[in-house]
Amino acid sequence: MDKNFYITTPIYYPSAKPHMGHAYSSIIADFFARFKKIDGFSVHFLTGTDEHGLKIQRAAEKKGQDTLKFCDDISETFRNLSKTLNLTNTDFIRTTEARHKKSVQNLWKELEKNDDIYLSKYSGWYSVSDEAFYNDDEIEEHNGKKIASISKSPVEWVDEESYFFRLSKWEKSLLDYYQKNPEFISPESRKNEVISFVKSGLKDLSVSRKSFSWGIQVPNNKKHIIYVWLDALTNYISALNYPDTNNELYKKFWPANIHLIGKDILRFHAIYWPAFLLAAKLPLPKKIYGHGWILSGDEKMSKSKGNILDPIEIINKYGLDPLRYYLIKEVSFGNDGNISQERLEDCINSDLANNFGNLCQRVTTFAIKNCQGNIPKDIEFNSDDLKILDKFKDNLELIRKKIDNFDLNFYIDFIINTLFETNKYFNDQEPWKKKGDIKRLNTIVYTTLEIVRKISFMLYPIIPKSSLNALKIFSIKENEIEYSSIVNNNYLTGGSEINKIDILFKKIEKDNND
Ligand code: ME8
Ligand code: MG
Repeated sequence: MDKNFYITTPIYYPSAKPHMGHAYSSIIADFFARFKKIDGFSVHFLTGTDEHGLKIQRAAEKKGQDTLKFCDDISETFRNLSKTLNLTNTDFIRTTEARHKKSVQNLWKELEKNDDIYLSKYSGWYSVSDEAFYNDDEIEEHNGKKIASISKSPVEWVDEESYFFRLSKWEKSLLDYYQKNPEFISPESRKNEVISFVKSGLKDLSVSRKSFSWGIQVPNNKKHIIYVWLDALTNYISALNYPDTNNELYKKFWPANIHLIGKDILRFHAIYWPAFLLAAKLPLPKKIYGHGWILSGDEKMSKSKGNILDPIEIINKYGLDPLRYYLIKEVSFGNDGNISQERLEDCINSDLANNFGNLCQRVTTFAIKNCQGNIPKDIEFNSDDLKILDKFKDNLELIRKKIDNFDLNFYIDFIINTLFETNKYFNDQEPWKKKGDIKRLNTIVYTTLEIVRKISFMLYPIIPKSSLNALKIFSIKENEIEYSSIVNNNYLTGGSEINKIDILFKKIEKDNND
């Protein structure tokens, strides 16, 4: 089996500083990257910034700054955010880099060579905010202004010479591909939207602009700038050193296992990108997953709407792992989700501090007091113990399969339920009443510790730092975390020392005055 895994986030526009939506996509991607890593895969995880086009040029002009300097600064805040979010990304690409420019121009030449590009004239609507062309039937009027129905962004009329990509030519091949590869677009409901859009007829796509300069030039016609989406999408292969398709990175990691994106940019990834790749005779990525939006009230959280929750402020106030946990748990993966500080606080108190943190403290304190501070040695599992321990063995393959379908909700539910059961198990077994039956006392403690170990392994992709803090109980280090070992019920060595650990999560004091 292929033990390589390539995952990407969108490359974000550095038109303004990052917000919670960006943090969300990156954290989800990091979850899958970390899970695959502890499951023995070689992982390539790419993120970065999308720096060309009129949107960025105008944002820099508005600030009166040199465009590249403007990009350097904001791109740096995105790079810093990936560190703040504790992402395990193995690369960070900027579309202003030479490696990328070379790759895009090469792809262009390939498309031209295969007669997929021709020169003509574009007359139609364009949204700079979305960097997207819209048909007449996708436009509506709002307060006397024309906007795109789907995104509500303002559109402007464009009338200029432009190169076109023969998108219409690929309509049937795309539909065939979707049919033969039912896993290609997820979730299912969004896949159907894409298919009906393609079925309604694809027009050729304008892929160059003449009226501004900030971008990659069309080879052999310097008056034209390559359409920013053709430029941006190519990042997924320029980071693997395309056009050199014989180098190790490309051979190992292309086609990507998943492009993780928000549903706002599904059309670009599920229609344009595969069409470009088909035209260039390159393999298609295995999956495009368009996750839902984080909402603020009923609206999409976005910089153009100004309703942003700043991830850095939240992290400074509550810490990173609570935010990671909260986003993964609270926003049902695939759907839109509302988030609030109130709910985040509840989640810290109930799930993290009570269910997980408290369990870790309780069992270690008890073991230090009653088992000489060591993992108990003389044990004998009964059916109560095995019932809970074997849950992991029984679900190992199922969890893998769910992850391969990117079913994050199943994974988190499994953890929450198991933590709940384990707390109940410890209470019901009442080890404090078993001082006359040391073997039974030992077995209850061993079982509970072993579950703390298993759960901490499973929590590692979600809350890496806290998982490692919990694993200090057993002196287990990061490179020792192996997903497959959760099936082993005798992993912990009897007789080895138990370490007391600091409180994992501080409870949030809530005002109860109202
Ligand atoms: O579209 N909820 O960049 P972008 C959830 N440069 N996710 C959100 C979100 C929200 N409210 N807001 C943003 C671009 N995102 C292009 C991408 S890729 C070749 C080029 C996330 O800065 C989500 O992943 O507008 C969305 O697709 C992405 O940020 C858009 O970021
Ligand atoms: Mg956007």
